[in-house]
Amino acid sequence: MTHVLVVGSGVAGLTAALHARAAGANVTVVTKRRADDAATSSAQGGIAGVVFPGDTHESHERDTLRAASGIADEAAVSLLVRDGTDRIAELIDRGVAFDRSPSGELAGGLEGAHSFARILHAGGDATGREIQRALLAATRAESITIRENLTLVDLVIVNGVTTGADVMSAAGVVTRISADAVVLATGGAGQAYAHTTNPSVATGDGIAAAIRAGAAVRDMEFVQFHPTTLADGGTFLVSEAVRGEGAVLIDESGRRFTADAHPDAELAPRDVVARAIAEAEASQDGRPVLLDATALGSEFLARRFPTIDRAVRERGLDWGRHPIAVRPAAHYLMGGVEADLRGRTSVERLFAAGEVARTGVHGANRLASNSLLEGAVFGAIAGRTAAAVAPNRSRRSRPISRTVPARRHAAFDRGKLQQLMWESAGLVRSGERLGAASRTIDAWLHDVPEPVSPREVEDRNLLIVSRAIVHAAIVRRDSVGAHVRSDTERSLEAA
Ligand code: SIN
Repeated sequence: MTHVLVVGSGVAGLTAALHARAAGANVTVVTKRRADDAATSSAQGGIAGVVFPGDTHESHERDTLRAASGIADEAAVSLLVRDGTDRIAELIDRGVAFDRSPSGELAGGLEGAHSFARILHAGGDATGREIQRALLAATRAESITIRENLTLVDLVIVNGVTTGADVMSAAGVVTRISADAVVLATGGAGQAYAHTTNPSVATGDGIAAAIRAGAAVRDMEFVQFHPTTLADGGTFLVSEAVRGEGAVLIDESGRRFTADAHPDAELAPRDVVARAIAEAEASQDGRPVLLDATALGSEFLARRFPTIDRAVRERGLDWGRHPIAVRPAAHYLMGGVEADLRGRTSVERLFAAGEVARTGVHGANRLASNSLLEGAVFGAIAGRTAAAVAPNRSRRSRPISRTVPARRHAAFDRGKLQQLMWESAGLVRSGERLGAASRTIDAWLHDVPEPVSPREVEDRNLLIVSRAIVHAAIVRRDSVGAHVRSDTERSLEAA
């Protein structure tokens, strides 16, 4: 029995745990693999925040709202940006070593759709790794229990109230953890797509469990595609910060094409750049476009982007001398479990923070480097709100520990789902393809048995989340932000 159970160990989960602990709660964190196996660890570009002289909260709010295609929740954005300054100060206090100038000033980078160079970074392009390191150290220093290798199977709901969660070990043993409050911080669901920047753990576990528990989800059609991953068959991210430093996108004839789509060209909002790339790619028979960083020089690239530089060179490429082939990949889910500005979902004693949650802060397209900020801000809020719930003496869940009866693993093919989602619910969608995808996913879901292994739990979750994305994309017939319908005319931006 724990007071606050946090599911997930990225920036949102660990911040929730630390704030719940600071508020006096007994806290347990469960995480699917190792504690540092979170999308946070691989975040490159940085964390946006108003910390530099000359920048203002109003400016960051305006940029966030504009990138969101005008449909973000203004109160949520204001909270994100204003609390964000304090959360960044807190990260620095916890020992996050953001990059600094030789004179010791914090260094700020520029990314798409920001009107100010307000992106803090660490280790050049290893910001997430540094934040994860510092938060894990702080969590351990607070003696917060972290239980690894436990996959969320289901939330335990008794008479409409959350009383804990069932989790599965790698060996398939399901255990019930009773809690007075549960904070979902399980991240996104990029693994629903054939091409994604997300780590293998991003299988929508929290969203699927919340749906199964009857919680409201919203904005699931808004999936962000990052414009630039290495087009070598893998999905290695090439940070937007590279374009922020001056790299340009060219087609095979050497023409800079993004200026046709937006006056800010390569630094337009991410949805605009990703779509411009998809169109350029289509016009050259599917061959990828190129990211030309040669003007930045090999020495600068190696110093400013050591992680990317290593990855590029491991592939035998010399990006200081030659443009590199890039293409978009699924990156971030703007929608998720509906949560209010205190982190509360529609189910009592269930909270959500970070990518798993939909607070309205991103609207139809998230502003670059607002995701680590979101995890820090809303993780803190959800952790504190969860810690404030009174012990739930009347509705304890029964302890269980069961091994799901062994049987041969189901023959569901995850790769087929990922390909279907890429083709039908990707950068450009049509009602016809979405409808066909919906029928296929429903048939797969109908046949999917009770899971007997973490892999099967993930498969079921991916199906549930994919169905939610596809259904939301069918219902929203207009194009807005990251959701583009080729078969309907009206766009909110154009309206
Ligand atoms: C990047 O470094 O381009 C990713 C940052 C983000 O997702 O905001």
